[in-house]
This record gives sequence, structure tokens and C-alpha cells, in this order.
Amino acid sequence: MEKHFNRTLVTAALPYANGGVHIGHLAGVYVPADIYVRYLRLKKQEVLFVCGSDEHGVPITIRARKEGCTPQDVVNRYHSLIKSSFERFGISFDIYSRTSSDVHAQTASDFFRTLYDKGEFVEQESEQYYDEEAGVFLADRYITGECPHCHAEGAYGDQCEKCGTALSPTELINPRSAVSGSKPVLRKTKHWYLPLDKHQPWLEEWILKEHADWRSNVTGQCKSWFDMGLKPRAVSRDLDWGIPVPVEGAEGKVLYVWFDAPIGYISNTKELLPDSWEKWWKSADTRLVHFIGKDNIVFHCIVFPAMLKAEGSFILPDNVPANEFLNLEDYKISTSRNWAVWLHEYLDEFPGKQDVLRYVLTANAPETKDNNFTWKDFQARNNNELVAVYGNFVNRALVLTQKYYDGVVPACGELTDYDRQTIAEFTDVKVQVEQLLDHFRFRDAQKEAMNLARIGNKYLADSEPWKVVKTDPERVKTVLNLSLQLVANLAIAFEPFLPFSSARLRSMLAVEELGWDRLGAIDLLPAGHRLGRPELLFEKIEDAAVEAQVQKLLDAKRANEAAARKAAPVRPVVAFEDFEKLDIRVGTVLSCERVPKSDKLLRFEIADGLENRTIVSGIAKHYKPEELVGRQVCFVANLAPRKLRGIESQGMILSAEAPDGTLSVVQPGREVAPGSEVK
Ligand code: 2FM
Ligand code: ZN
Repeated sequence: MEKHFNRTLVTAALPYANGGVHIGHLAGVYVPADIYVRYLRLKKQEVLFVCGSDEHGVPITIRARKEGCTPQDVVNRYHSLIKSSFERFGISFDIYSRTSSDVHAQTASDFFRTLYDKGEFVEQESEQYYDEEAGVFLADRYITGECPHCHAEGAYGDQCEKCGTALSPTELINPRSAVSGSKPVLRKTKHWYLPLDKHQPWLEEWILKEHADWRSNVTGQCKSWFDMGLKPRAVSRDLDWGIPVPVEGAEGKVLYVWFDAPIGYISNTKELLPDSWEKWWKSADTRLVHFIGKDNIVFHCIVFPAMLKAEGSFILPDNVPANEFLNLEDYKISTSRNWAVWLHEYLDEFPGKQDVLRYVLTANAPETKDNNFTWKDFQARNNNELVAVYGNFVNRALVLTQKYYDGVVPACGELTDYDRQTIAEFTDVKVQVEQLLDHFRFRDAQKEAMNLARIGNKYLADSEPWKVVKTDPERVKTVLNLSLQLVANLAIAFEPFLPFSSARLRSMLAVEELGWDRLGAIDLLPAGHRLGRPELLFEKIEDAAVEAQVQKLLDAKRANEAAARKAAPVRPVVAFEDFEKLDIRVGTVLSCERVPKSDKLLRFEIADGLENRTIVSGIAKHYKPEELVGRQVCFVANLAPRKLRGIESQGMILSAEAPDGTLSVVQPGREVAPGSEVK
């Protein structure tokens, strides 16, 4: 049964306050959420849009330690930066608060206590790595060491990025603390766990059956979590930054950042509406929608709903339209490598061009798959679409009206068949845009809006008022009247997407408000209405501007490479006898093929001067198999055999690793007989 809702509460993922906001965040979360909220407001629906900074968690403490300041200093700095960038960019939150606020601390603490009192947690003791030098327990990400599987150095306590294996910190060989570099020790500690396994049955039913209409990337990810079986998740941490666990005997423990952050949605609502917040969180006729990126799916679809359900008095999300990722110039956006376009920098470098970025990010929205942002495409979409299609149509209609009728809307005369045909083409735009927006298909919805301008351009080009004016001035009145109605329609249709441009367009049309419900109408501007002064709605972006941006990225890349070029420190000395134990040989690649269902592994048959052998090597991302056939490679011949994807690998092919992680197989300088020893 279709549910009936009277209001919509929209949340956008709380950004971490340890860096700025970049185009990946905007395209994935904030621009679509803002379009949606603006749309609902235009439809005069009751809606609330909440967000704020996520100010807890280990990375903030590490950053503070590095910078020699307090975590509060770090979050103060970034909270202000993020908040003002969103404001300047026109993200229309009703409140943008922060998780270091008092209201939040109280709300999150009470929430924990309620669950604790209801017996919704499981208490458990475990041994975790502790950094004695820094005096802190170490989060998995902050313990590095040798991977027990592929023996790469620098594997993290939760995963080896080289071979992709999921790890637990105690599996690492020779673990080190990433905080102080010292050797961590195991210490007993107690934590509270949310038993997600207990929640799995209803979660499965709720997501896979009752919300089968959610985006397939969302239900797909949830399903794979269910298939693996949900496990209890710790909701506390040993840390001195965060909200203290409100339980006796929990000194030195705080709420896990992912426990308190989503409660931030509730506290921010409370801060804004201290007397009526419950209506937004506890009424069955409120529709809750979370806008997030795909890395947040498990927290918003599984963990937070389990928390809300366990508490018992809250509603659950009705939809979680998560997006995939946006890449930048074909590479993954990376904050640490500064491979990003930062919102605050964009706003400074492209003043007044908020809508250009909004338009391009929506046109490339990663709704169904990862997508790519390039500066060339940014320029092309501005010049060929915003300027040449939308801006051009508006300008021609307004300038012609200025020229022939002194800026006064002429009366519409008798309609021709062609006029009627054109009107028919755009009157159903409202139904179409609404249908798309209701289903979170922002990219297609924006295309529909742009289609109005295309219709307008075609109408003007076909009607040729500049020629007809000499022979049939009455006809020109009708053509311009209809064109101006189309322009007014554009101002409405683009309002959720390009709010700055719609405001400017309204001032050029000298109208205050047009009303979403009038979208598709042809009597928006009455005859005799005096228009404002026509201006250019968009301006061309020159090559130099985008070339400078590309250069900026290349500079960042070069700086990173230079930093990375500093070779890894040499490992502890080994005795010559130990070195001699290694039997390294040259072999010739007889065949090489991909290992099915693995994007990393290649299977080699190697002529080794003996009986030939099979070696499996994780270099599939760096070579096409056919490139390697016939080549000579070096391999460790006496490594204990091990099975990879069911194939016994008899040795290891040696590769050199460049600072960016690219692997190149090591080859002898001259062709030698297969089986030659490397000494
Ligand atoms: O992934 C992130 O950037 C998190 N700070 C999102 C938190 S969303 C919510 F739960 F608060
Ligand atoms: Zn590994």
C-alpha cells in the first residue's frame, strides 16, 4: 500500500570537519539533495533540510596531533570553511550545525543511554593494539605492517591495499603504530556492541521486500552485507575526543563517531526546532530521506535504522538515494593527494558561476555508476549548453522584444499549427520533470529542463521574426509572446537546479515569483507587461581558465610524486647466509592469462629450464596478459608454494613498484637461458 506523507525531512551526509568540501561530495550528496529540497519547497510541500559538520573520529585527532593544536581547533577551522562554502554555493539547508555542539552531545548521550537501559547492547572485552608512546588505543587504520598474505609492507590493520585482503590488526606481521611509529602492544579493553545479527531478519524484510524500489546500488550493497551475515558492531572507542560513554566505568571511552554522527541529524533538527522537532522524527506521516555517497550505505541503511528501531520511538528512512563516485580527470578524487576541485577555491576562482558547477555536476551525476568530471567537459557544457542553448534563447527573445516592442510583452495573436505543435512539445514538461525528480533522477530531469530551451531556439530559428517583421509584424507579436512564455517557463523549470540563474532571469522578466504549479503554462507573462533589462545569463569560459585549472591539478600531482619519490626506508640488515637462501631465477613467459573472477591476478606458465612452472602474480592491473608472453622475468624459485584462487603458485615474479603504485616486472638486461640464477 502506498504510504501517505504530510512532510519530508531531508538529510545530507554530515561532512567530516577535517578538510574542505570537493566536487565529489557536491555531485554525490549536496547538489542532488538541494535540488530535491528546492523542488519540494516550490511545490509548497512541508520540508526540512538538515545537515552539519561531523566533528568526531580518529582522523581529526591525528590531524590535530600533527598540527600541534587541539581537535576542537581543527574542527572549528573546517566547520567555518564548509559552512560558508555551502552558503555561497546556494545549498539551502534549514540548519547547518555541528556534532561538537552541546545539544548534540546531550542527544547522542541520551540515545546511547536509552539503548543501554533497554539492554540493546552487548558488552564485550577484547584485546586491542595500544600505542604506549602516544598513550592511545589504535584504530585499525592506524596500525600498519607486513601483509600476512602477499607480504607487502604498509598494509593497514583492516585491509591490505596491495592484495585487497581484509585483515584484522593482529594478523599484521611486525605491526607499527601510524601515530608514533612505535611497536603497539595488545591491551584488554571493554566495549559496547550493537548486535546487528539480531536485527538482520527485520532489516532484510524491510529493505529487500518493503523497499525493493530503492536504487539497485543501494539494495545490492545491503544484500551483500546480509549474505555475509551481519555481525555485532562496536559503538564505543577508547579515545579522548568525542562524546563520553554515559555509563559508569567507561572512563576514557567515547561514542564511536559513526554512532553519534547520524544522531547529528536528530540533534540539528532539535537545535532548529526545540519545540517541534519530534514531529519530524516521530510521526508516521513524515517521510525521511537520506542523501549520501555509496561509502555510507551500510551506515544509513543498516546501522542507523537498527539504532532507531532499537530506540523504538523514531521513524525509519523511506528512501536512501545513494550515489556512486565522481572521478576527476579519470582518477579517483583524493583528499590526501590533493586530487580534487575544492568548493571554496572554485567559488573564489569562478565568482558568480555557482550555477555552472551545479549544472555540470548534475549533468554528470554519478547516479547509476561512477562518473567523471573533466575541465574540458565543464567548459564544453558551459559554452555549448548553458551559453549556446539556454542563454542564447533567452537573450534572443528578450533583445528582440526590446528592439521591436520597447521591452513590453506583445499580445499573442492567432496561433498557427506550428505554434500549437511547439506548445504541445513543452506543456507536459511539468509532468515529466516531476516524475523524474520524484524518482531522484536529477540528471534526466535537468535534461528535460534544458529541452525547453532547445524547443525555444528551434521555434525562433524556424519562425525567423527578424525577417517576418518586415512583411507581417502581427505574426512577430505572437512569435515573441510565445517565446517569452517559454523563457518564463525556463525560469521555473531551472529553479531547483540553477537557482542563481533563475533569480536573475526573473529580474530580467521583472516578475517576483512564477510558481512551480504554472510550469507548462503559456500565459505566464501578460501582454503589456514591461520586462526588465536583458543581460547575458551565462558567459563563455575561455580556454585559459580551464587550462589553468588543469595545470593546478598537474602541479598537485607533481608535488605528490616528488614527495613520494623519497624511497621507502631500507629494511633491517640480513646476513649474507640469509640472502643466499633465496633462489632467484630468470624464466621466459610461455603463456599468461587472467585468473577468472579476479581483477588483480594473472596466471603465468614459465619456462624455468627445468620442468616449467605455474606462477600466479597480482599484476593484472598493470599489464595486459599478451604484453608479457615471450618476455623474460625474474622470480623467486624456492618460495613455499601457495594457493591463490584455487591455483597453486610455484614462486613469485619480481616487480619494481613506482611511487604511484605502478608495478613493472624486473627483467634481465640481456636475454639469458631460462633457469639462469640471479645473484
Ligand atoms: O563519510 C563521511 O563523510 C561521514 N562524515 C558521513 C557521516 S553521515 C551521518 F551519518 F552523519
Ligand atoms: Zn597483501
